[in-house]
Amino acid sequence: MTHRISVIGTGYLGATHAACMVELGHEVIGIDVDPAKIKRLADGDLPFYEPGLPELLRRSLATGRLSFTSDPAEVAERADVHFLCVGTPQRPGSNAADLRYVDAAIDSLIPHLRRPALIVGKSTVPVGTAQALAARIGATAPAGDGVEIAWNPEFLREGFAVKDSLEPDRLVFGVASAQAEATLRAVYADVIARPTPVVISDLPTAELVKVAANSFLATKISFINAMAELCETTGADVTVLSEALSHDSRIGGQFLRPGLGFGGGCLPKDIRAFMARAGELGVDQALTFLREVDAINQRRRARTVDLAREELGGSLDGQVVTVLGAAFKPESDDVRDSPALDVAASIHEQGAQVRVYDPQAMANARARFPMLTYAESVTAACADADLVLHLTEWAEFRALDPVELGKVVRQRKVVDGRNVLDVAAWRAAGWTYRALGRP
Ligand code: UDX
Repeated sequence: MTHRISVIGTGYLGATHAACMVELGHEVIGIDVDPAKIKRLADGDLPFYEPGLPELLRRSLATGRLSFTSDPAEVAERADVHFLCVGTPQRPGSNAADLRYVDAAIDSLIPHLRRPALIVGKSTVPVGTAQALAARIGATAPAGDGVEIAWNPEFLREGFAVKDSLEPDRLVFGVASAQAEATLRAVYADVIARPTPVVISDLPTAELVKVAANSFLATKISFINAMAELCETTGADVTVLSEALSHDSRIGGQFLRPGLGFGGGCLPKDIRAFMARAGELGVDQALTFLREVDAINQRRRARTVDLAREELGGSLDGQVVTVLGAAFKPESDDVRDSPALDVAASIHEQGAQVRVYDPQAMANARARFPMLTYAESVTAACADADLVLHLTEWAEFRALDPVELGKVVRQRKVVDGRNVLDVAAWRAAGWTYRALGRP
């Protein structure tokens, strides 16, 4: 059955969700406060890089069931299920989440809600947010208690957003009524039929599932990176350690890849916001370990800078350093809290001439770090380099021929921040190969 759906906030999450809802057969209207973004999306032009999404967006527009607007009155008129997909970034000067976009989205929509509707939160929010919003909506919407709230956290990964939306590992519906559950089951009927496990919960549990999942993933990465620190002082090899652990089916190999650690718009800010919320609730002790998870992650960045300096004889001043990778991970142009750019900026501050290349994230990197130099290709970035740092594991970098690259650099020195280059091949081509957590 076709539902009339709105998607509030058409950034990364919202744009993906809107197109996927059309793919599931629904009629969708997207709304955003940024008119430029709305115009581009309506023209079938995706404002960010995500494999497969441009095609899906254009296909969705061609059905005539996807439109965009800046007018909340139109959204209230044309939809009965409203998905809230706005960002919840880290609040400046604090660890807590900044809920201003959630509040603004709700405040602009509710005065127009004159008939029963379901508002479904997808944004990652501090536990307790949904219940507070429910009270506010009930008190101020013209339709009163006819407007209900549910929480349906999103687990999509950048680079796999379409697949993760249409074929998720699970669906979580935080609901306060059987009616809300029935509506969500109907909206996601095709996904549920795949089959996909559905977990029904109350509102706070659904909010917690998201931050708990991201905290667990961050902990797993920091665990293996803590082991890397041990390996560095004992001469052990963390990649072999990780492989051995991964064969234990209770542990598994995912999110156990040692290296420069996690970044992006989710993991770092989500664990910090979770700690901040626990503090407000008086249970900060329960999450003290996340402070360590964050600290281990930051230390990997510092260690990479130290390794670079060591490789260059103790000083970075005046050296030419190539940084391969700017995005926080491959298959993304997102540079939010990017470990690669963090390292590049530190090395620049220590006097090196840093040249960055990334297959997709150049424009975003340039806007965020205009003081760095950007090259148009790997070869241009590596010309006369004293040191090459491999910091985001794009397939293009893994496939590099160390013999050919060896001909353009000044010194054959490489630091592999992601532990994926073929060590034997690089060493055979005369490179000094260093990596995190390995002898
Ligand atoms: C994450 C969650 O995976 C997703 O479920 C949630 O909805 C949003 O946050 P994303 O931020 O897209 O998704 O990136 P993810 O693939 O999880 O990677 C996060 C970071 O961890 C990247 O910087 C990546 O390089 C790093 N990472 C990942 C490691 O350092 N080691 C690993 O083994 C795995």
